[in-house]
Amino acid sequence: MSGHSQARQSNLRDSSMVSMARGYYHVTCIVSMDCVLPCRFKHAGDEVVQWYRQNVLVHSFQNGSDMLDQQNKQYRSRTSIFREQLPNGNASLLLKHSDIQDKGRYRCQVHSALGDQESFVITKLEAPIQFLSLRMTRPSGFDEVSCSSQDIYPAPQLWWSTDPAVPFDTLKPTTRKVANRQGLYSVESAQKRLGNLSDFTYICTLSSYYGTQTWKASLKEREISSVSGKGLTIPCLAPTKLLNFNLTWTFTRANKSEVILTFDSLTRHTSSHWKNWARVDPDQVLSGNGSLWLHNVDNSAQTGTYTCDFSAFQIRQQVHNHVGFFALNTGGNQSSLWVIAVVTAALVLLIAGMIMYASLRDKCSLPNRTTEDAIEIQHMRRDTDENKTLTESKSCDIKL
Ligand SMILES: *[C@@H]1O[C@H](CO)[C@@H](O)[C@H](O)[C@H]1NC(C)=O
Ligand SMILES: *[C@@H]1O[C@H](CO)[C@@H](O)[C@H](O)[C@H]1NC(C)=O
Ligand SMILES: *[C@@H]1O[C@H](CO)[C@@H](O)[C@H](O)[C@H]1NC(C)=O
Ligand SMILES: *[C@@H]1O[C@H](CO)[C@@H](O)[C@H](O)[C@H]1NC(C)=O
Ligand SMILES: *[C@@H]1O[C@H](CO)[C@@H](O)[C@H](O)[C@H]1NC(C)=O
Repeated sequence: MSGHSQARQSNLRDSSMVSMARGYYHVTCIVSMDCVLPCRFKHAGDEVVQWYRQNVLVHSFQNGSDMLDQQNKQYRSRTSIFREQLPNGNASLLLKHSDIQDKGRYRCQVHSALGDQESFVITKLEAPIQFLSLRMTRPSGFDEVSCSSQDIYPAPQLWWSTDPAVPFDTLKPTTRKVANRQGLYSVESAQKRLGNLSDFTYICTLSSYYGTQTWKASLKEREISSVSGKGLTIPCLAPTKLLNFNLTWTFTRANKSEVILTFDSLTRHTSSHWKNWARVDPDQVLSGNGSLWLHNVDNSAQTGTYTCDFSAFQIRQQVHNHVGFFALNTGGNQSSLWVIAVVTAALVLLIAGMIMYASLRDKCSLPNRTTEDAIEIQHMRRDTDENKTLTESKSCDIKL
């Protein structure tokens, strides 16, 4: 019930985005990545290049070398210019390991024989969404669907929807966005389960502040009961037409999870850990039908939760199938034959036991026997070998 998923995105490289509007460059730097702030000028030689944020000195270059004694300590060891690019009229600033504090308006000032040349860069900082987690929890007796992510800047937008849709005000999630010391936001939202377990698919959408990313995760729970000893197909369809996706089926029972099989649409490779016991249809799965076929399942070991998990770029769908198996109970079938077999076996054992008991009683003579026969036999044996008689009677005691 408390399956857990995280959609993840492949690593981001230095991917600052640059645009130009009303004479200003606009740059979006990715938090903790390197970032280039552009600056162009007319080259004349012997330039003095100075970069400022508001009135804070960020970087200074003159007489062929960096002059950093006046540099603000926020920028220490993080700045440089491409000095080989100066003859090309390029005084761009390389800002290493950018941080939220680096946002703002920068001024590039180039002094040369041509006079002062200035240009401006509006720098935004963004920490993109890297995962979205959606799971079912039970914090105080009632089920909640909980959606969360971490280390995002600026604070993202989160909203819920269901399938089938419900009126907007039916959903009353509790959402918290908290910034850590670095200024990065974690977001956590919980929505109480509506109706019965299998009634709705819950969809959590997380969108970045600048609208550059939209992540979506969905979760559905379903209860399935099946006749034991027969094949079972657990249906699972991809949410939309997915380009490159991974499908993973897992089995969870008593807090232990194991992977049943995985399918990668890019390589078209299926790896099955349950061998011939479970498979997906290789022709259907590529078009998004990941239904799992289970061979001849029985009721004990395979009762549990079968989770179907489609994950693709910024999208994830999980369906938890709680599968229970039951035996058919109509007259004359296998199960009543079993009962007859067990009863018969018990009777046979009982009779055999009684016969053995009777024969042992005849053979052994216990010291506390009071019948005359027994006493007589005891005397006879004692006459021959006392020790032997004692051990014999002891072993009879144990057997009975
Ligand atoms: C300046 O040079 C750097 C380093 O080669 C390059 O990354 C940047 O795009 C150039 N900027 C402009 C505005 O030409
Ligand atoms: C730059 O170097 C020249 C001579 O090499 C010197 O006259 C001038 O003062 C220097 N400028 C600064 C700002 O150090
Ligand atoms: C939940 O299921 C039960 C039995 O199937 C039904 O009686 C009840 O009305 C359902 N509740 C809701 C809220 O759908
Ligand atoms: C599963 O784990 C939860 C919390 O870790 C625990 O409360 C629960 O008793 C466990 N259930 C089983 C069947 O082990
Ligand atoms: C999905 O595939 C299964 C067989 O694996 C099939 O029984 C089922 O009808 C298919 N569903 C759809 C919607 O195509």
